[in-house]
Amino acid sequence: MEYTFPVTRTTSPKEKPDVNALGFGKYYTDHMFIMDYDEGQGWHDGRIVPYGPLSIDPAAATLHYAQMSFEGMKAYLNPQGGINLFRPDMNAKRMQNSNDRLCIPRIDEELFVEAVKALVKEDADWTPNAPGTSLYIRPFIISPEPSMAVHPANHYWFIIILSPVAAYYEGNDKELHGSRIWVEENYIRAAVGGTGFAKCGGNYSCGMIASEEAKKQGCEEVLWLDAKEHRYVEEVGTSNAFFKIGDTVYTSSLTGSILPGVTRDSTLQLLRKWGVKTEEKRLEIEEVLAAADNGTLTEAWATGTACVISPIGLLKYKGTEHAINGEKVGELSQKLYDTLYGMQTGTREPEMEGWVITL
Ligand code: COI
Repeated sequence: MEYTFPVTRTTSPKEKPDVNALGFGKYYTDHMFIMDYDEGQGWHDGRIVPYGPLSIDPAAATLHYAQMSFEGMKAYLNPQGGINLFRPDMNAKRMQNSNDRLCIPRIDEELFVEAVKALVKEDADWTPNAPGTSLYIRPFIISPEPSMAVHPANHYWFIIILSPVAAYYEGNDKELHGSRIWVEENYIRAAVGGTGFAKCGGNYSCGMIASEEAKKQGCEEVLWLDAKEHRYVEEVGTSNAFFKIGDTVYTSSLTGSILPGVTRDSTLQLLRKWGVKTEEKRLEIEEVLAAADNGTLTEAWATGTACVISPIGLLKYKGTEHAINGEKVGELSQKLYDTLYGMQTGTREPEMEGWVITL
């Protein structure tokens, strides 16, 4: 199906930020995509309009009961001056699963991808060109419908905004470093049966208290343990977690409380292609810490769209610090970062067919 979206261009384009001082999520481009959903009519009137504030009723359902879903993707400037997207179909599929869990109407996957492409093309000149940077894409769905009763809304907005960004973990765009990670033993991120596998705001707001504690403890992020026994490692902050113990790379299986990350899947596929042994299983924190201390845990890293591959240098648990590989960046972490970011920016041949789409 062919999709076209009318464009209303801004009459006051913004000044572009310095690509060497972007940070993460501080700047937004000139335009946004917006589309309505109405019960009985479905998704309709997708359009590109100037970026700006939304007018929303104070009783809007999303503001009170957090009925929303979102995605995170990136666009990259390639050496030919074109724009690359990375596996956008995966984000479109994941949003279907998030929407099902949150009782939000599904968006046709092709429509989702075409809307992303149309907006990225419109604001392509905002894609930064400094090493480690990209144009972060944030598709999200909220309901502006005024309703204090707790039930799924009948009216929604699907919106896409764009933000030129540097690394999520400060400094990683220049050179990867091993982050200090706080292992959270009291608070939990998600329980099986909850919304852990979906991408929705509530999964992140409930984690902020632990991130704040992590910072007080001199750490950059949190390693979440499972909700029931506080025994198995689940995710690192806003990303999936990987541990290389002996000759095997472990990551948590998709238990229902884990986000099925696109970078997680890409990492597993690349490692398998390279002949590295991988296992998706529930890994005990005690096993991880013992392996860090006896030197068999040689590398650990976080994977995510925002954080790409972010090495983990140290785990802090119950007041004790456990360094991994002397806090140095491991070979495999660096290789994964170079391969993924190289593929995404078109500076390396794509190792996997169909992963990179050039607009
Ligand atoms: C992403 O990796 O795209 C995410 O959604 C993480 C975000 C919460 C910063």
